[in-house]
Amino acid sequence: MKHDLLQVLTEMKDGYVSGQQISDRLGVSRTAVWKHMEDLRKEGYVIEAIPRKGYQLKARPETLSEAEIKAGLSTNKIGQTTFYKSKVTSTQTLAKEAYREGTPHGTAIVASEQTGGRGRMERPWQSPEQTSISVSIVVKPDISIREAPQLTLVTAVAAAEALEQMTQLPVQIKWPNDIYINNRKVSGILTEMQAEAEVDKIQMMIVGIGLNINQKQAHFPEDLREKATSLYVESGKEWPRAYILQALFIAFEKWYDTWMEHGFDHIRETWEKYAALYERPVKAMQGNKTVVGHMIGINREGVLQLKDQHGEVHLIYSGDLE
Ligand code: BTN
Repeated sequence: MKHDLLQVLTEMKDGYVSGQQISDRLGVSRTAVWKHMEDLRKEGYVIEAIPRKGYQLKARPETLSEAEIKAGLSTNKIGQTTFYKSKVTSTQTLAKEAYREGTPHGTAIVASEQTGGRGRMERPWQSPEQTSISVSIVVKPDISIREAPQLTLVTAVAAAEALEQMTQLPVQIKWPNDIYINNRKVSGILTEMQAEAEVDKIQMMIVGIGLNINQKQAHFPEDLREKATSLYVESGKEWPRAYILQALFIAFEKWYDTWMEHGFDHIRETWEKYAALYERPVKAMQGNKTVVGHMIGINREGVLQLKDQHGEVHLIYSGDLE
């Protein structure tokens, strides 16, 4: 009910909707409409009520909730099933459970705080309460196992585009899975998969995205302060997390569908547009092997290419860049 009421108010944007219209549309009494309006107000929504004109939503609270995330969300599948929890160990674990229970493609598990957030290479990921977004999206792509790493790059393009469009900040992708603003990390991506090796087929993948939104510089642990940033630190403004998440869902659906319909080659150019260190000298660490060269982009499969001083091109499948 709360979600439906928010949906109606959101659709009206700058107009007014009368109590009668809402009660007809939602099939409840006007008294029930009034009661739910009061509940929304208690949660921090500012709803203006003008006699003979009706209701208008003037401001939303800075909260993450299923109703806030889904109100006006214009995707087909991504985020249309969303489970929100204020505090979890890791959204990745909940997403795996949801998959086992048969949840549809595009389901999102969202949390405001994680106590055991996981990053790549077994590193911890900090997701503090009220200021960050942690989301894991369950997808069921029809691809082979060797194509699976491309999803990290597809997600990075979506996250970079969504953050750039929302904030106008200079967003960059640092291969393979980090989103940077002004040389500091604002977002990280972790993809995990389940596959059927005998038939070389992916059954499902879970895309985990952690976003630093409204943290102040002092909120970051000391060892991260020089390396991490948030949208607040970069812009001096607080951002409504539900809007940022909606923008992420929309961009993710667009780039995921492009990938499925046209292949990774259609994403390559946009990835390179956002790439930090493009055509710059870098060091790639792959286990105990180090490759030094100029980054010349990614190939049609999404594998990073470095050209060394002898002109030899090295393909980098995994690891970290310096
Ligand atoms: C990294 O930079 O190493 C990746 C960080 C990924 C963090 C996200 S937050 C949502 C999801 N849940 C987790 O436990 N990890 C991912």
